[in-house]
Amino acid sequence: MIKPNGALVLMMVMIIIAWSPVLPVSANVQASITNKLGGGKNLSLHCQSKDDDLGQQNISNDASFSWEFSVNPWGTTLFFCVLGWESVGNYEFDAYSFARDRVRCENRCAWLVSAEGIYGLNDQTGFWEYVYSWPAP
Ligand SMILES: *[C@@H]1O[C@H](CO)[C@@H](O)[C@H](O)[C@H]1NC(C)=O
Ligand SMILES: *[C@@H]1O[C@H](CO)[C@@H](O)[C@H](O)[C@H]1NC(C)=O
Repeated sequence: MIKPNGALVLMMVMIIIAWSPVLPVSANVQASITNKLGGGKNLSLHCQSKDDDLGQQNISNDASFSWEFSVNPWGTTLFFCVLGWESVGNYEFDAYSFARDRVRCENRCAWLVSAEGIYGLNDQTGFWEYVYSWPAP
């Protein structure tokens, strides 16, 4: 049996504290994608980053898929998604890109998928912006 050694535990705590600025900092962002296609249409969605695969999702009309993440200190955080519905096969878009969304989505990155295209909430201004249009058929 190993007895807990007070000095060792204290040293480990100090090492963790000393290293903590290196760990991903602050700012949790909540991202969400809502199906506003109407007409009872389902949306298929698959989002991922370099490190996380959020899995294949089927979203019914008016339902949402959301997740939270921390922005990495290197400014390279990127989540991209591939979606599909009736008229659109595989459409890829960025749900969060640090370069574009650092200010725009400081805490919240909300998207509405509609028949016209994809609207994104500018968390800074509170306005919905028309960001992605569907490719011409
Ligand atoms: C949408 O999905 C639900 C459950 O997965 C299914 O019952 C329904 O038929 C689907 N609707 C359409 C229009 O495909
Ligand atoms: C989503 O729907 C597809 C086919 O429409 C099905 O193969 C898949 O299992 C569904 N995924 C989930 C998570 O329900």
